[in-house]
Amino acid sequence: MTAYPKTDALMARGAAFLGTEHAVLCGAMSWVSERHLVAAISNAGGFGVIACGAMTPELLDKEIAATAALTDKPFGVNLITMHPALFDLIEVCARHRVGHVVLAGGIPPKGSVEAIKAFGGKVIVFAPTLALAKKLFRSGADALVIEGSEAGGHIGPVSTSVLAQEFLPELAADHVVFVAGGIGRGMGIAAYLEMGASGVQLGTRFACATESIAHPAFKAAFFRANARDAITSVQVDPRLPVIPVRALRNKGSEEFTAKQIEVAKLLDEGTVDMAAAQLQIEHFWAGALRRAVIDGDVERGSVMAGQSVGMVTKEEPVAAIMDALMTECEAALTRA
Ligand SMILES: Cc1cc2nc3c(=O)[nH]c(=O)nc-3n(C[C@H](O)[C@H](O)[C@H](O)COP(=O)(O)O)c2cc1C
Repeated sequence: MTAYPKTDALMARGAAFLGTEHAVLCGAMSWVSERHLVAAISNAGGFGVIACGAMTPELLDKEIAATAALTDKPFGVNLITMHPALFDLIEVCARHRVGHVVLAGGIPPKGSVEAIKAFGGKVIVFAPTLALAKKLFRSGADALVIEGSEAGGHIGPVSTSVLAQEFLPELAADHVVFVAGGIGRGMGIAAYLEMGASGVQLGTRFACATESIAHPAFKAAFFRANARDAITSVQVDPRLPVIPVRALRNKGSEEFTAKQIEVAKLLDEGTVDMAAAQLQIEHFWAGALRRAVIDGDVERGSVMAGQSVGMVTKEEPVAAIMDALMTECEAALTRA
């Protein structure tokens, strides 16, 4: 007899797809989602995902092998679609027989979905619109994550609750769909399962687990923060595009605004051309997440965090977090 009968019943399809006890993914977080956190998530019955980020194929190869040495449970790999060595990275996943590959950061380029399926891997994708989601399923995607603007990291403009209401009635009957963004407690999981989701993906709630290698200063910044501290990067000038990122407000975010004003002024004066100006903006945050997560520079680094950060108040082992989420979810479903 399971401790979570109602939750397990609603998660059954997602858990079968992932090969896990619980249909709870820990979304890939660059620098944070490495072997230790990923293995801990999978060992706790969830689904850990390695964040490949900008890793080379050699580094990814090592990371997968090291993760597999820490867990015999399934885990996945998240690849950024614009990585210049995407197909070599897929080849590395093939060599390790990675069960699930998450393609993030844009529309999967031609041949990528096929290359993953060719070695028997399952493909998980993101889609900002319903039309694109349907197209990706037609092109062979096996599962979808819908991620709302409450999430930490790179985000779209629409909230999780709206995306869920728009996508789930159209897709959930025939497809495996996971919901991400803003989930801090089990009652949130229960709500999306009842709406038809096969499972959920969380990042912020797991980022500061005991097993996470994030710097103590990064974790302390999370424990101090409230939901309203997790703000999105602001675009100052329409000529200088800024991809919205949700992170904790700090000196770096203020300096980024000042930098945009400065570069816009240089553009007006004709001191720099458009390409050079856009490059200056793009380069501002280069290495910023690493500075925060690894070096602990929470003032000038990018402390990516979702709005659920206010519900992260102390360091706990992954197993304890998973237990709390499942217990809360079951209680919410039992009350219903
Ligand atoms: C510090 C941090 C880094 C992240 N890095 C990535 C990444 O490299 N690739 C990715 O697809 N998503 C990334 N995300 C998004 C997470 O995978 C996940 O979808 C998101 O955190 C879920 O929303 P939540 O933060 O509200 O739980 C990141 C999130 C955080 C908080």
